[in-house]
Amino acid sequence: MSARQTPVYFYSSKSGLVRSFAERLGRPVFDLSEREHRLSEADGPWVLLTPSYKTGNDRNDTIPEAVRRFLRSPVNRRRMVGVMGSGNRNFGRHYQMAARQIAARSGRPVLFEFEIAGTPWDVEECRRILAELDEALARDGGTPAA
Ligand SMILES: Cc1cc2nc3c(=O)[nH]c(=O)nc-3n(C[C@H](O)[C@H](O)[C@H](O)COP(=O)(O)O)c2cc1C
Repeated sequence: MSARQTPVYFYSSKSGLVRSFAERLGRPVFDLSEREHRLSEADGPWVLLTPSYKTGNDRNDTIPEAVRRFLRSPVNRRRMVGVMGSGNRNFGRHYQMAARQIAARSGRPVLFEFEIAGTPWDVEECRRILAELDEALARDGGTPAA
């Protein structure tokens, strides 16, 4: 039997760089800029994919509001198994700040990082990492997020 495909919940702004990456992953992906998904609960283990957006406002820096909203749910927080980020190295020490902050706070690993819309190699590498994650979760019965 093939393993469950761990879904990816992503946020993407109007420029849609992360959306185009997510849509090339060949697995279920959910767009948190859509209210229906932002207010939903993941039905099992899931992975977050977020860009970083430095706003200049220290209190509300870098993590997109839609991602914050989805993570307000304790069920979603518990079932999140990893974090992936899109960023731009031009932002220096703020590079991938959103993904890294969420990973640090949640104790979940950063599974993959790429710049801007990602290269074809990034897409392949990310697909491979997620397929390995699917297998690992299938082996241990979906814990810790079951
Ligand atoms: C206003 C603005 C602020 C950004 N701030 C950061 C940042 O702090 N760190 C980072 O790594 N990338 C930063 N980026 C780069 C974006 O995260 C990156 O381009 C991402 O792919 C955008 O995804 P999206 O088009 O799907 O929203 C910023 C981009 C813009 C336009």
